[in-house]
Amino acid sequence: MIKTDILIIGAGIGALSIASELCKYNKKITIVTKGNVKSCNSSLAQGGISVALSDKDDYHWHYEDTMTAGCNLNDSDAVMKLVSKAPSVIKEFIDTGMEFDKDENGDLAFGREGAHRLNRIIHAGGDRTGLRVVEQLLRNVASPNVDIRQNEMALDLRVENGSCSGVITRSFKTGEITYYQANYTILATGGIGQLYPATSNDTTITGDGIAMAYRAGCELKNLEFIQFHPTMLTINGKAYGLVSEAVRGAGGILVNEKGEKIMEGIHPQKDLAPRDVVSREVYAHYLKGEKIFLDISAVDDFEAKFPTVTEICLEHGINLNDKLIPVAPGAHFHMGGVKASPEGITNIKGLFAVGETACTGVHGANRLASNSLLEGLVFGKLTADHILNNERTASEITDNDGKITVSSLPSKKEIQDQMMNFVGIVRHSNEMQKIINWFESYSPDKFSSKLNIESNSNDTYELYNMLTAGWLIAKAASKRKESIGAHYTV
Ligand code: SIN
Repeated sequence: MIKTDILIIGAGIGALSIASELCKYNKKITIVTKGNVKSCNSSLAQGGISVALSDKDDYHWHYEDTMTAGCNLNDSDAVMKLVSKAPSVIKEFIDTGMEFDKDENGDLAFGREGAHRLNRIIHAGGDRTGLRVVEQLLRNVASPNVDIRQNEMALDLRVENGSCSGVITRSFKTGEITYYQANYTILATGGIGQLYPATSNDTTITGDGIAMAYRAGCELKNLEFIQFHPTMLTINGKAYGLVSEAVRGAGGILVNEKGEKIMEGIHPQKDLAPRDVVSREVYAHYLKGEKIFLDISAVDDFEAKFPTVTEICLEHGINLNDKLIPVAPGAHFHMGGVKASPEGITNIKGLFAVGETACTGVHGANRLASNSLLEGLVFGKLTADHILNNERTASEITDNDGKITVSSLPSKKEIQDQMMNFVGIVRHSNEMQKIINWFESYSPDKFSSKLNIESNSNDTYELYNMLTAGWLIAKAASKRKESIGAHYTV
């Protein structure tokens, strides 16, 4: 048994932002991550951070744009907290040494992304924002108070009588099982991107947080809302990484094989319409067997502005002199998740959720571009403040290991294909029960029981978590009858 004050599961921006606040105090912090410190969605984020810091902007406009993108299904108090605190949190972050890109006058450079009324996105290293932010936060958490344990998979939360006392993990390298006892346990495991065949997400992102939270009796919210990014670099039906929306913000235009602009007449904001609108349009062409490209002829200094996209394209044989990048949509961000307040509080005592794992309600039915790194930083800080001001000691609990040994599960690929067909960009309400039944055929007790740790490998846990999260998403989608935001049903 390892005892610690704060146990964080995951190492993305939400996780590191909490750790960077709390490590200034005499708290023992343990971060457990399934991959290595940089294998998280945060590191892959290209676009940037939206914040009303330009003198032409106002956080009330940021509030309005966030609500509109979320189809007003957002929690308006949480949105107001996010956008109003954003400028001071970002300024404090800059004071720790974070360098965002500057314009020719030495002021912050503001980029543009879909559904923002003006240029509001700050970025770093061109399109390397997520990575640069993670690197800065890792520098900020370099402290003897912080122990980062990599390649260790969280298997189940240790919960008794509605109160959390830590987590059980198993190392991928040594197979060692560790019981952690923590006064505060924080779920920061990212979203569910790998439940789909094409995704911008890291390979470790398989819905583990949602599945563990569900088994522990946690309330979940808005699971049906999954944002598909319209432009993943796609060659022969296989996705190879994100082509940032900032490329369209800088003048990129979606065209078909004949060079016709596909967003003309579809939405007044054309290529910068909300992501669900653009994704559906690209997907409709894709399903007809048409190829869609991002035409970058109007983007100046493409390689300098978008070094990551350039790298991905070159790696996969795309000649940027042709000015056409083949694209198709992929799963990008989960608006739903573990129901949590902006301070990360869940219905389980001592258990907190931040970042994409959490559903704080800020994103509503569709997230406004570049609001997610912001959410990790701002609500990570609020969670840390809450922990500092609310003393808690975990109770000693008796761990009852699960009895289930899983013998035959579908492959990752089968799960991904089922999710895309039934709970993808376009859903068919009359087919939803079919996929729910398919999921349930793998778990007669509807995923409520814990697995036996000794007799199930980490890989089995991962598949079982994918099935659990997929089943929960399908059930949520079957309950929402109307099309709204990212949930489009016919
Ligand atoms: C992008 O760069 O297009 C992604 C940014 C985001 O999802 O917020």
